Amino acid sequence: MDKMLVSGGATLNGTVATSGAKNAALPILFSTLLAEGEHVFRNVPQLKDIESTAALLESLGCETRRDGDTFRVKVNKLQSIEAHYDLVRKMRASILCLGPILTKYGEAVVSMPGGCAIGTRPIDLHLEGMKALGAEITLKEGYVHAGAKRLKGGTILFETCTVGGTENVMMAATLAQGKTILENAAKEPEIVDLAEYLNKMGAKITGHGTSIITIEGVDKLTPAEHTIMADRIEAGTLLIAGAITKGEVTVEKCVPQHLEALVLKMREAGFKIEQGKNSLTVFKANTWEAVDVTTAPHPLFPTDLQAQFMALMTVAHGTSVISETIFENRFMHVQELIRLGADITPKTRVAVVRGRPDGLTAAPVMATDLRASASLVLAGLVAKGDTTVGRIYHLDRGYENLESKLQGLGAKIKRVE
Ligand code: EPZ
Repeated sequence: MDKMLVSGGATLNGTVATSGAKNAALPILFSTLLAEGEHVFRNVPQLKDIESTAALLESLGCETRRDGDTFRVKVNKLQSIEAHYDLVRKMRASILCLGPILTKYGEAVVSMPGGCAIGTRPIDLHLEGMKALGAEITLKEGYVHAGAKRLKGGTILFETCTVGGTENVMMAATLAQGKTILENAAKEPEIVDLAEYLNKMGAKITGHGTSIITIEGVDKLTPAEHTIMADRIEAGTLLIAGAITKGEVTVEKCVPQHLEALVLKMREAGFKIEQGKNSLTVFKANTWEAVDVTTAPHPLFPTDLQAQFMALMTVAHGTSVISETIFENRFMHVQELIRLGADITPKTRVAVVRGRPDGLTAAPVMATDLRASASLVLAGLVAKGDTTVGRIYHLDRGYENLESKLQGLGAKIKRVE
């Protein structure tokens, strides 16, 4: 079981480039099921979740191939319309194959994803959306059985802002008969990237990036080419790595507009941050103030950066109140940060962080989920001594070569057995 060994005290300086966005690549790879033929992608990150997605597509009869900086998906007529539990349980996002298979083949059998460390993460809104398009949905032995001769456009109001729900129903609507309107749709940049790829395949989507998305159904989609957008969560994580070690770091190949909420909070804490066309630079700061953060749907502060920002607040001057409004159990990193000497009082969906500017001391800690593992690596960069972060497989789900990127900036970090 790999561990990450992080020696605290190094100041990170220099330039680092972001990889492609996991949360854009996953739905886009599932969208290939909408169109037979060869799809060609660039900037697909090398991650465990991408491998899981490729395995699922192959189990349905597709072929995937990474060829230099391109990632090809050849979609043949599906040999199966069933996404098995043993594949879906590895990655909840597999539920995103439901919409494409259902709308293209008229039926789909997809395992329920089950919960995960950060919350129950139901899929009721996905299924409500499919039903609103005319699908018959039954749940049997842990599987969703969905059927519809041809989906019919309709209006769907999401009672909760859901990224996956918006993506799943948007994909299903591309081949439905007539117009679909999604209201209270999620506005994340990854949804915009997916919609842009769907439109390249011949879909007719407008309003993506706003809370009202309109999809005019078409009869057929054809494969296309696309470059996956930069990973804004990785970019934010790298920016915080520079900040927490009192360094000067430029994160390249990112979209500054995607990180406005983080940049606002870091500036409020006292960091000087410069925006380039495709880059963000954080400048050296010896001290910074604690600021309060509340996570919320885009364009507000992303829940996927909450754990990383909390690490930054554990060594700030003052007290920060961090509210997690999206997931009910996304404070698994708190107990581990406390093992490193952080002073945090976790309550339900709120954590009070009393900053201790030089208060972290190395200890063995354990990753519990993807973003928690990033938070522990960031804290290890400033904790006195050598911190080992266990169960680092969580990190490999969503960060491509994080240790080599951090090493490139001067971090003393390596993977150990
Ligand atoms: C996506 O998950 C991301 N994953 C998550 O990133 C991210 O944290 C989340 O959106 C929020 O931004 C991918 O894109 C692959 P949601 P998703 O549906 O789609 C509730 C990471 O670290 N809900 O927007 O599963 C749900 O319980 C991962 O990269 C329902 O109640 O999130 C949650 O409280 C973690 N019913 C809230 O909505 C539903 O049918 C937001 O979930 C669906 C969701």
